[in-house]
Amino acid sequence: MGHGGNVIDELVTDHREVEEMFGKIEALPPGHKDRKLYADQVTIELVRHSVAEEAYLYPAVRKHVAGGDELADQELQDHATAERIMKDLEGCDPGDADFDRLVGMLMSEIRSHIADEEENLFPALRQACPADALDELGEKVRSAKKTAPTRPHPAAPDKPPANKLLAPGTGMVDRLRDALTGRGKSG
Ligand SMILES: [Fe+2]
Repeated sequence: MGHGGNVIDELVTDHREVEEMFGKIEALPPGHKDRKLYADQVTIELVRHSVAEEAYLYPAVRKHVAGGDELADQELQDHATAERIMKDLEGCDPGDADFDRLVGMLMSEIRSHIADEEENLFPALRQACPADALDELGEKVRSAKKTAPTRPHPAAPDKPPANKLLAPGTGMVDRLRDALTGRGKSG
């Protein structure tokens, strides 16, 4: 499945990729070490996706959709909830009892985010926002994600600083978000 199309197509493709990673986690027995690998990958995808939505999708929703401010505020709250879960999760080993609990919470939070966007927010935006503006936002979201580091690859040679940025473990969510938004930089 390729990326492309307008902002809605692009973000829906992200959603399908995240669901695929959730499926990989669910297919493994509790305690399996690869569940941690996939949890880290899905965390990285979700932070990139959230930052792109916050930068381009929600401002467009506020501008074009009736009641858009309330919709956008609710989505931001949901992102904050998911991010708190991911921060708790990043320090857990796959054998921890907390790992399974947190992964379950993350899946349910994100699945309801996906359903809500695809059933309510995207159709409302598609109706309210001109097609060329949706196309332009798609390009912006893609280039925002391209400047961001992608998934950690166990076989990849050390390539600082991206490798350090993505090193799984405590602080990964914050390091990623800072790198993606420029937060913490002077000015
Ligand atoms: Fe989304």
